[in-house]
Amino acid sequence: MSIATSSQTLPKKRKILVTCALPYANGSIHLGHLLEHIQTDIWVRFQRMRGHETYFVCADDAHGTPIMLKAQELGITPEEMINAVRDEHMADFADFHISFDNYHTTHCDENQALSSDIYSKLHAKGHIKTRTISQLYDPEKGMFLPDRFIKGTCPKCKSEDENGDSCDKCGATYSPTEVINPRSVVSGATPVLKDSEHYFFDLPAFEGMLKEWIRSGALQEEMANKLSEWFEQGLKQWDISRDAPYFGFEIPNAPGKFFYVWLDAPIGYMGSFKNLCNKKPEIDFDSFWAENSDAELYHFIGKDIIYFHSLFWPAVLEGAGYRKPTSVFAHGFVTVNGEKMSKSKGTFIKGRTYLDHLNPEYLRYYYAAKLTNRIDDLDLNLEDFAQRVNSDLVGKVVNIASRCESFISKRFDGMLSTNIDNQALADEVMNAGDSIAAHYESRDFGRGMREIMALADKVNEYIAVKEPWQLVKDETKQQEVQDICSLGINMFRTLMIYLKPVLPVLADSTAAFLNDELIWDGHKKLLTDHKINKFKALLQRVDMDKVNAVTEASKENLAAISTDGKKEKTNDKKKKQEKVVDNSAALANPLAADPISEEIQFDDFAKIDLRIVKIVNAEHVEKANKLLKLTLALDNDGTETRQVFAGIKSAYQPEDLIGKHTVMVANLAPRKMRFGMSEGMVLAAGPGGEDLWVLNPDDGAQPGMRVK
Ligand code: MSP
Ligand code: ZN
Repeated sequence: MSIATSSQTLPKKRKILVTCALPYANGSIHLGHLLEHIQTDIWVRFQRMRGHETYFVCADDAHGTPIMLKAQELGITPEEMINAVRDEHMADFADFHISFDNYHTTHCDENQALSSDIYSKLHAKGHIKTRTISQLYDPEKGMFLPDRFIKGTCPKCKSEDENGDSCDKCGATYSPTEVINPRSVVSGATPVLKDSEHYFFDLPAFEGMLKEWIRSGALQEEMANKLSEWFEQGLKQWDISRDAPYFGFEIPNAPGKFFYVWLDAPIGYMGSFKNLCNKKPEIDFDSFWAENSDAELYHFIGKDIIYFHSLFWPAVLEGAGYRKPTSVFAHGFVTVNGEKMSKSKGTFIKGRTYLDHLNPEYLRYYYAAKLTNRIDDLDLNLEDFAQRVNSDLVGKVVNIASRCESFISKRFDGMLSTNIDNQALADEVMNAGDSIAAHYESRDFGRGMREIMALADKVNEYIAVKEPWQLVKDETKQQEVQDICSLGINMFRTLMIYLKPVLPVLADSTAAFLNDELIWDGHKKLLTDHKINKFKALLQRVDMDKVNAVTEASKENLAAISTDGKKEKTNDKKKKQEKVVDNSAALANPLAADPISEEIQFDDFAKIDLRIVKIVNAEHVEKANKLLKLTLALDNDGTETRQVFAGIKSAYQPEDLIGKHTVMVANLAPRKMRFGMSEGMVLAAGPGGEDLWVLNPDDGAQPGMRVK
């Protein structure tokens, strides 16, 4: 049930406003947040590329008790803290290439005006009720205590030091007033019960409207099911007020009462957009938010905050006379190496720690490759991450360009041919655009990425079969070489157009290389008789040492992580029910440890004579799929050579091997093979396939040396 199905009926040029959930202003951005921002950014960049008027706004969520207390703990004002955190968040997002049109804060004039106005409208329509409730109060600190700031003994199993609303030991949930020997986490004092008048939003009044909204078909199926469950349990009035002291907005005509943070947080979406409109008068706020707006409005969120976005928020909007979201898109949670992100294992990774070591586009691609439009959790398996990026982006996509470019620039002065060598292949790659677009539209990014990689495989296969590196030796075949390599470069270009929403920086360097803008509609065209520029290595391989450096560094900065403990616990509990651990990646991972072979004794090992050798010649073996025939020199001037058949064709072209060094088993008895005599074995290291390495001459090992 995705909106892709209705895209045919949507207007040609759409007006789209997109948001991500607003990160709390008391902690750093981590790889969990980034799943959401990267998912949204890819979708937004895709919509922009397709020519739709698209705005992407977000903000920091700056209000509430935890933020107030954290600032006190740091000895600064909440304003000082939220400003510093916002600067940090903005820098992190910018470095992951998240292309916001505006990143604001909920603690701003626009949001205060909108929140007060919306509240007043709800009040005028009779949707606000007041009632006196009794709550635990810290007499020392002089404040009411949210559940998470109370600890004590579980009323059911009597376990000590449990949470104010639930027990980690026996799983019971209860009201904080039932806790035995309660104490305030803030001051240690024993809380007392105290009465206070609270303001409630009359959610049950909107039940009919909400049921209809779900039936409109704009929600993910799992979300619609969740909502139906909540309806069965019955909707309750929602407490939207908090007593002073509270960091937030005071409620109009209610001195000492403040809006609960979750009331003004979603209004912060409007506040940030309003702030954008103030900066850019050509954007009309009302045309996006008025009840009869023809613009589309989408909220990307995590599964833990569905209730707020699919019940409260549409009801508040409806009650105050605004339009409702076109859809709310929920995603699952990020796990790392199959488990919840863990501080002690170094898998609670901050965005900045990642950026200190790794290219942000690796993560953008990996998330894209694994994202679906469902609410499943997404596992970031760090070895699979390195392997997938290396194999897909470096080994498949960029490889096309590296195989073709040097011929074009060296032999043909950078000019692409006027001929299309294989129109059928070109058509297949160009015609995939509509299907790839549909996957982007429906947020089924993983499918889109698989389709793109399957095309890349076909292009590589085409080049491998044509072998331009052989043809180039024949003076009469030069035109053919130019045609083949030109088609290769063109196919690389088309694939990079498809990948541009995911890899904006790689797309920019590709654009510079190809002298072409890579606009979406360009995927239907080919560049012929067109000059390209010299190729610089467009993307480095992921280095597993750097990945390990990220987890090491994450262990070190444990102390600096957000203190929003309660929310993590709540997530935990939900996760027990909803967790879908995706371990398909781990299963497919060729880097997973192989079982150790039969044990040998030192004496067996000592018999093996390992030598550094120089590969002086390498050639294809006719009818052999994996083998290359190598001539190896045991010394620098090549007086003693050996002929060896080695199964490394999947990783190297023969011409790339000549001049390289490798390690060989020099005293292996010669073996007669189908293709001739093999006088030894060579060693190459790596998981296999395209990923196998021999030595470079500048690695310092000289032919003839024994390997210790
Ligand atoms: N401030 C609220 C949102 C208010 S929106 C009007 C909030 N903030 S948060 O910082 O805790 O989370 C921000 C977003 O990040 C949420 O959508 C949340 O689901 C998402 N994620 C936080 N941790 C996550 C993972 N480990 N994995 C994926 N997303 C996660 O909630
Ligand atoms: Zn208990």
